Amino acid sequence: VRSDIRAHAAPTTPTVVYGAPTGTTDPALQAWVDEIARLTRPDVVVWCTGTAQEADVLSKQLVAEGKLIRLNPEWRPNSFLARTSPSDVARVEDRTFICSTHRDDAGPTNNWAEPTEMRAELNAAFAGSMRGRTMYVVPFSMGPLGGPISQLGVEITDSPYVVLNLGIMTRMGTNVLRLIEAGTPWVRTVHSVGFPLVDAEGVRRADVTWPSNDTKYIVQFPEDREVWSFGSGYGGNALLSKKSFALRIASVMARDEGWLAEHMLLIKVTSPEGGSYHVAAAFPSACGKTNLSMLKPTVPGWSVETIGDDIAWLRPGDDGRLWAINPEAGFFGVAPGTGESTNPTAVQTVWGNTIFTNVALRDDGDVWWEGLTDTPPAHLTDWEGNSWTPDSNRPAAHPNSRFTVPAAQCPSIADSWEDIGGVPIDAILFGGRRATNVPLVAEARSWKHGVFMGATISSEKTAAAEGTVGELRRDPFAMLPFCGYNMADYWAHWLRVGRGLGTQAPAVFQVNWFRKGDDGSFLWPGFGENSRVLEWIIRRVEGAADAVDTPIGLLPVEGALNLDGLDVSPDALEQLFRIDPASWLAECDLTEEFFARFGSRVPPALHAELASVRYHLAH
Ligand code: GTP
Ligand code: MN
Ligand code: MN
Repeated sequence: VRSDIRAHAAPTTPTVVYGAPTGTTDPALQAWVDEIARLTRPDVVVWCTGTAQEADVLSKQLVAEGKLIRLNPEWRPNSFLARTSPSDVARVEDRTFICSTHRDDAGPTNNWAEPTEMRAELNAAFAGSMRGRTMYVVPFSMGPLGGPISQLGVEITDSPYVVLNLGIMTRMGTNVLRLIEAGTPWVRTVHSVGFPLVDAEGVRRADVTWPSNDTKYIVQFPEDREVWSFGSGYGGNALLSKKSFALRIASVMARDEGWLAEHMLLIKVTSPEGGSYHVAAAFPSACGKTNLSMLKPTVPGWSVETIGDDIAWLRPGDDGRLWAINPEAGFFGVAPGTGESTNPTAVQTVWGNTIFTNVALRDDGDVWWEGLTDTPPAHLTDWEGNSWTPDSNRPAAHPNSRFTVPAAQCPSIADSWEDIGGVPIDAILFGGRRATNVPLVAEARSWKHGVFMGATISSEKTAAAEGTVGELRRDPFAMLPFCGYNMADYWAHWLRVGRGLGTQAPAVFQVNWFRKGDDGSFLWPGFGENSRVLEWIIRRVEGAADAVDTPIGLLPVEGALNLDGLDVSPDALEQLFRIDPASWLAECDLTEEFFARFGSRVPPALHAELASVRYHLAH
């Protein structure tokens, strides 16, 4: 029966196959799509509907073309493996541009390009870039459809792999068109892999399994709320809903409109007494957001439920509190290191309906990556498609291999994760990988002090376990690659939002799971045991736990951190919380140098916080 339907529907154009509408009644959207089609010259334009049938047709087409491998449905139903080209495996920060009118508005931490010149360059790159291909128009909502914190976008792309991923990562489809047609604002994003199948003279060339282009552009026009991405098919560069829109463009919208767009996980924490609290946490990439968002508490009676693992949008509500949503609908998580002992919840989440990118393929048609199991299978096909055994001297999965999976499949997902108004935030955490100096947990004395903590997030460059302050890689608010405007203005915006929240502002904490002992090993067991730190944080929010004031913040008093049943020596504990004035003063000097990069745009309040920390350290 199914083949009958397809035979009936297939002959003319994909528009008919997918049963999609042929356009929109919104004149601005229609005109923009026509304009991009005139520039890029695709064979066909398809308006995506977001239905399961559409995803099924697209994935079958990609399997038939050899661009996706269907995994063995017995182990991993409705799941696929994509292998990128070896030169297209990660975000390309040196090709990522913020094109504001004034260079200073992009700030010293972003690549800036003059907007008119960049538009000319992009027009040349995109001219004819979709020849011989299908151009997909993908309407999507970030956050639940029609929600007060949600935003709409449209991505035009010539990559069906991108369409499938967007179908998981966003609320995608025809319903979004109805909201646009009703007048809801939306953000324009254009993506091309930059591999036309027909050249300007009409000469056709064969496609490849992962089309891309050596020249890449990831360009944000914050003032026009527009994104243009060329030459890469990789998630972080091509799924424009995510880093490009939900962080770079949204951070600018948030600045202008009084809210916050952040690189933060979101969780709901419930105490043994049944009190529920919401925590947002910003850690730089590969510092454990996905892990903490799915944490299984080891402390009896506590539960942690997942709301988001990467991005949060936070907005002051009518009640004066800060309310947050996860604007995404799926997880785009790092695979290596995700295993039964580190993140069993993520392992369960990817049981099916998952797109894996650059992991290894088992001989039985399932997937594997380093850390999934302790012992690797005897034979695999590695992420580049080559035969692999444990003796091969290379990883089987690419270190940045990823899974794309619907958030709804996560066993720990909170019932409230799609509440359109979001959840009220009780605590905000900032963290990085710090082998030295930064204690396991410290509470900020005030919102201003919390902004100072966020502004100074950093990780040591590798192997800095010697106890001296090494070179620090600053990643303020974990937003270094994602802030769409001048980072110092962003700090000022955070201070402004805090003034509006006043006494209703969430408490702010700094955490560090990564402090190392003299022998170079982690002092804190981490993962599920981080629930002990969450417990203290929640008790502080409740006003039920004591803290001791130190130069760098409020630390748990002796006995306040629940260590029942935990094997941590008194010496390790002392090291975890040790504050060495000399190395902290040295760190303050580095912070001053860092602030100096932003000149007079640094808010005076942050200089005052730095002065206060120095004063307390010296007295
Ligand atoms: P992006 O998705 O790229 O933004 O990064 P992320 O913040 O989600 O990072 P992710 O959770 O994928 O980070 C995983 C890395 O952090 C792995 O190397 C984990 O082993 C490590 N990690 C996570 N939690 C802990 C912890 O509590 N202790 C230690 N020692 N390592 C941890
Ligand atoms: Mn993550
Ligand atoms: Mn991230």
